[in-house]
Amino acid sequence: MEMASNTTTSSTKKLRVLLVPFFATSHIEPFTHLAIRLAAAGSPSVAVEATVAVTPANVPIVQSLLERHYYGKHHDAAAVNIATYPFPAVDGLPRGVENLGKAAPADSWRIDAAAFSDTLTRPAQEALIREQAPDALVSDVHFVWNVRIADDLGVPCVMFNVIGAFSLLAIRHLTGDDASSSSSSSSDPDAAAAVVVPRFPGPPIRIPRTELPEFLRKKGRVDFMNNTFYPAQAGCFGFAINTYSDLEQQYSDLHMHGGYVKRAYFVGPVSLCPSSSTAGAANSEQQHCIDWLDSKPNRSVVYLCFGSFVPVSDAQLDELALGLEASGESFLWVVRSATWTPPARWEERVRNRGIIVTAWAPQTAILGHPAVGAFVTHCGWNSVLETVAAGVPVLTWPVVFEQFITERLLTEVFGIGVRLWPHGAGLRSTRHAEHELVPAQAVARAVKAFMRPGGPGEAARNRVMDLAAKAHAAMAEGGSSQRDLRRLVDDLLEARGAAGGTKLVQD
Ligand SMILES: *[C@@H]1O[C@H](CO)[C@@H](O)[C@H](O)[C@H]1NC(C)=O
Ligand SMILES: *[C@@H]1O[C@H](CO)[C@@H](O)[C@H](O)[C@H]1NC(C)=O
Repeated sequence: MEMASNTTTSSTKKLRVLLVPFFATSHIEPFTHLAIRLAAAGSPSVAVEATVAVTPANVPIVQSLLERHYYGKHHDAAAVNIATYPFPAVDGLPRGVENLGKAAPADSWRIDAAAFSDTLTRPAQEALIREQAPDALVSDVHFVWNVRIADDLGVPCVMFNVIGAFSLLAIRHLTGDDASSSSSSSSDPDAAAAVVVPRFPGPPIRIPRTELPEFLRKKGRVDFMNNTFYPAQAGCFGFAINTYSDLEQQYSDLHMHGGYVKRAYFVGPVSLCPSSSTAGAANSEQQHCIDWLDSKPNRSVVYLCFGSFVPVSDAQLDELALGLEASGESFLWVVRSATWTPPARWEERVRNRGIIVTAWAPQTAILGHPAVGAFVTHCGWNSVLETVAAGVPVLTWPVVFEQFITERLLTEVFGIGVRLWPHGAGLRSTRHAEHELVPAQAVARAVKAFMRPGGPGEAARNRVMDLAAKAHAAMAEGGSSQRDLRRLVDDLLEARGAAGGTKLVQD
């Protein structure tokens, strides 16, 4: 660090990176974390300036994360900037609704459709990118046009994936031949009921069709993936994944060497920052969670949270509430529903034993608290990385998207948890209306069994503790993710240098 004073500013190279996440908190947060990481990956000779580009209603998500991260520290917070571009006018979406978690469940597809639309989202995004004229672009995978725009500008474009290597690879291998084609043609009901992920390393992964991501169940989307989505990934400068190589080694290797992308970088967990984990509780409701946990014995509390966008019906929330009550275990439950209220007198009956949090919960601090013994999770990738880093075993309850695929990584490959609703108990589906209600007794039974001393939770904990140590090692100085982050910065610098000449010619 002292060496910096010997370096004159004129010899400091500057790398300006613009990051463009999809319209969902589960994407905006890891993109912001990556921005922080990139800014910190600079050196005395390279100053990295990172800017996160979002639409106006999503600015507070970036801002509050930056505040939480930089609060009370000496970092130069100015290293991460925010730039905005307008959200398009979308039929059926009220003004100001610019985030998957803010849309009514029946309208969330409109946010998705807008994000993939060349006519809706591209123009404003392109105008911002041209105005900012960054040295490098880090784009979400939705915005396939950014590969072309970066090419036009003569700068590299890296696509950053906020889900893990395992699920990405499974989706890729399921696109096309198996998932879509046989569902219409197969007459064997058993074959039609499930698919085995083809050409996949590790144990065979079998998934009922109803648990596949929606787009794999629709022919039109498969064509889009094949003809537009994957070619864009193959054409871009590089592909970064929020994972670490020790976590998903064999699946990461295939991304690296399978010919899918030109360069791969494994830079996660980007949210893992030793100095920010203590700054979890910022207001009184959040402090209340931590105080409450402080009053509980070690590993005695079940933590439940279904993420920032997960449609769970009120009827299902009732069953969950009654199940938690019947389990006899202590619980901290994050509920995000504008309509649900607990069953009559339920709160009195579980007083002292359980609390409900309806606002933003300091998940990192909760998972890091010694009182937490298990995590009932929807298997969203950010939650997976957080529980892995904290060494907390899981009970899985996937709901949408790739979550049922990720569940199999946790239960069948890592063995860091078990399914809350066992195989064969009832129909599960990524389509909300198709998914059967998980009854209260099933919740009670699973939670009780998992928390029992010497039960499946203990074996799972030993394994997740091992992964936790590796996560911290990967993000530490000299660790694999830290090295990949530096390699990314170096490669971007070099690419910018190489593209310098052609840029002038093209304008
Ligand atoms: C998608 O691409 C894969 C691999 O190239 C191919 O096997 C499959 O038939 C394609 N599917 C569709 C629906 O085009
Ligand atoms: C509870 O966990 C903390 C942190 O791991 C530890 O320091 C403490 O000794 C534990 N308490 C008991 C009673 O085991």
